[in-house]
Amino acid sequence: MREYAIAAIPADGIGPEVIAAGLEVLSVLTEKVGGFRLRVEAFPWGSDYYKKHGTMMPQNGLELLRPFSAIYFGAVGAPDIPDHITLWGLRLAICQGFDQYVNLRPTRILQGLSSPLRGCKPGDLDWAIVRENTEGEYAGQGGRAHRGFPEEVATETSIFTRRGVTRIMRFAFKLAQERPRKLLTVVTKSNAQRHGMVLWDEIAAEVAKEFPDVAWDKMLVDAMTTRMVAKPSSMDTIVATNLHADILSDLAAALAGSLGIAPTANLDPERRFPSMFEPIHGAAFDITGKDIANPIGALWTAALMLDHLGEKEAALRLMHAVELVTASGLYTPDLGGTATTREVTTAVCDAIHSAGL
Ligand code: IPM
Ligand code: MG
Repeated sequence: MREYAIAAIPADGIGPEVIAAGLEVLSVLTEKVGGFRLRVEAFPWGSDYYKKHGTMMPQNGLELLRPFSAIYFGAVGAPDIPDHITLWGLRLAICQGFDQYVNLRPTRILQGLSSPLRGCKPGDLDWAIVRENTEGEYAGQGGRAHRGFPEEVATETSIFTRRGVTRIMRFAFKLAQERPRKLLTVVTKSNAQRHGMVLWDEIAAEVAKEFPDVAWDKMLVDAMTTRMVAKPSSMDTIVATNLHADILSDLAAALAGSLGIAPTANLDPERRFPSMFEPIHGAAFDITGKDIANPIGALWTAALMLDHLGEKEAALRLMHAVELVTASGLYTPDLGGTATTREVTTAVCDAIHSAGL
């Protein structure tokens, strides 16, 4: 029996609701599929922890997480604590501390869902967005001086390193090569940002030589938004900087139906550290505790986690069950329905049990 240790960090907002849904579905799934087990340990870190202890996680938080096979993360943020404290104290601390340099965001239109784009059919939008996750615009370089004075100054410096850009490009080209269309779009802004983004472009062209069978093109980020709306089927794998992909992936999720279904994997492809899996949607305070959060983002995320652990069959079965439910028209309010988190979770568990799976 294969066993994987999972660190669950439900944290804030709707995080605990959707992670509970995900763990319930995973337990039904592992029972049904057999051959492996998940040993889940929950960590009560996040904004409540901060209010009691003054930090988002204990000092030795990373040490505690290190032995785990993967981290299953909910959402972070609270209305009464500044976002940069909650984020840098937990989520970004884990991403950077474990050098999870790939943020992978698959986006497609699940069965039964529809795109707000007129005439966009499910097969027309099937993207894998690769976001650089450790440097770029979110490297955390910069500072503030002369606080409160009229001459106050703040800098936020983007960092692009040859090592950092090369490894994200290699990952993206390799992923593109593994996908049937072997097609990569490199997002850039080298017309206006003439240092970091020019290095980015040069390294893309260098790495491309290692992947002669991958067709690739370059797209300025502003023009990319138009292309995503006007010609979604012209793209497959997409690689972009931390900031650019942050923005484009929200657009992508909305074009695929809802932010509530979108998953993320924060990966250390070299597997030196545990990777972290989280739905994109965030804390969503406005709907916290109402049992209407869409659990599908957390379920698709769980499928990415299983895939990373090598349990590909289980990952496929989970997505199949999710799509049986979306195809049946059982939608939470973000998708225009009236179903609760509980109803969708139960339906996915039933779909896993049902014949044919
Ligand atoms: C995301 C989120 C976060 C990010 C925010 C909350 C900092 O928007 O996962 O895309 O940009 O990393
Ligand atoms: Mg974002």
